[in-house]
Amino acid sequence: MNVLVIGNGGREHAVIQALKKSPRVNKIYAMKGNAGIADMAELVNVDYCDIEAVVAWVDKSDVDFTVVTPDDPLALGLVDALEAHGHRAFGPKKCAAIIESSKAFSKSLMKKYGIPTAAYEIFDDFNKALEYVKTCEIPVVLKADGLALGKGVLICKTREEAIAGLKEMMLDKKFGTAGNTVVVEEFLEGPEVSVLSFTDGKTIVPMITSCDHKRALDNDEGLNTGGMGTFSPAPFYGEKTAKEVLEKIMLPTMYAMNAEGRTFKGVLYFGLMKTKNGMKVIEYNSRFGDPETQVVLPMLDTDLMDVFEAVVDERLENVDIRWKEGACVCVVLASGGYPEHYEKGKEITIGKLDEDVVLCHAGTSLKDGKLVTSGGRVLGVCARAENIDEARKKAYANAERISFDGMYYRKDIGIKYRDVEKE
Ligand code: AMP
Ligand code: GLY
Repeated sequence: MNVLVIGNGGREHAVIQALKKSPRVNKIYAMKGNAGIADMAELVNVDYCDIEAVVAWVDKSDVDFTVVTPDDPLALGLVDALEAHGHRAFGPKKCAAIIESSKAFSKSLMKKYGIPTAAYEIFDDFNKALEYVKTCEIPVVLKADGLALGKGVLICKTREEAIAGLKEMMLDKKFGTAGNTVVVEEFLEGPEVSVLSFTDGKTIVPMITSCDHKRALDNDEGLNTGGMGTFSPAPFYGEKTAKEVLEKIMLPTMYAMNAEGRTFKGVLYFGLMKTKNGMKVIEYNSRFGDPETQVVLPMLDTDLMDVFEAVVDERLENVDIRWKEGACVCVVLASGGYPEHYEKGKEITIGKLDEDVVLCHAGTSLKDGKLVTSGGRVLGVCARAENIDEARKKAYANAERISFDGMYYRKDIGIKYRDVEKE
């Protein structure tokens, strides 16, 4: 079978490396892919947010199955458009992808169906929001409603910060139209965990857990980024918590989406916090997380293509999804200056890496036959071992064999939550 993977980041490289292991996958295309992906897939240079152009390309190709991983084409209805043209595609339809693309929608869904999350109010009027923020409990969290690439969230430690943040979002439009509607949310505390799941709307199967590191610098300092590294599994997430999450969060979310006429098929990502009052939802995503996927998929011990097809055909309950023992750590190598201004086109040199280390290309391209940087997050170095400590040592030992001008990475991936009680 020939498969098209939509996207061009580390997450897509991880998906393609997993699909490559499937005996049933013949040829892989990637739209648009990157230099690492080019080694294992044929790159297709079509803008994947141009839905008509993608469908037109698939129509005349020999693709049997399309995997849509980035949030934008999902929110724009790429899966709906492909299906309307008789193509098989993995990912939620537009009406279900809204669970990520609108925080106002996801918060209302959780309230309506009693799914545990932070208390909140939604405003589309600046003066009303201001009145509320002048008296609400502090710290408080402000979230722009639309897709703002994970940057539309402000944690305000003082009232002054909250008022200034509200102005930035609603009046100065710092996040564009995403800030027309703002969710003002109770501040929660506790360790965070990402739990991705496969669901076909009838069955939901959690993947192995992982923890992201969103800040640019060590000790969670610096600016918010797309994610500077991950480890899997979360040591504080045992059977008891998994049961609580399945019963109180995952199944109720799947049923809620069905009841709303928005059946979700694809990867449903739960961003969770373990608070003293139990597990709560921080956010939903309608897709694989990045860089969570780079640690989760190397742990998968089942053919990913089988899972994708079972989701599309709504027979997920018949698939036995297994995970490897041990742990995996991913260290992201970033361009100097990221997440703000950074230069591209820096030549990358890669020494000999351990054979079992998985290198996920995120922002790389080929220029005059040379591997160069083309994005803020450039590479993810992913290592598997018996436990997180060993995996992190291996990931860092290999990261040191890679270099490019301005390269930087966090030195503390995998250390976080060490002091949190294990379960
Ligand atoms: P989100 O884009 O909703 O995932 O938010 C980005 C990050 O902000 C999350 O990963 C959390 O670390 C933090 N965050 C979001 N909502 C809250 C909240 N209610 N309380 C505390 N931290 C939060
Ligand atoms: N790593 C968080 C995300 O993919 O949104």
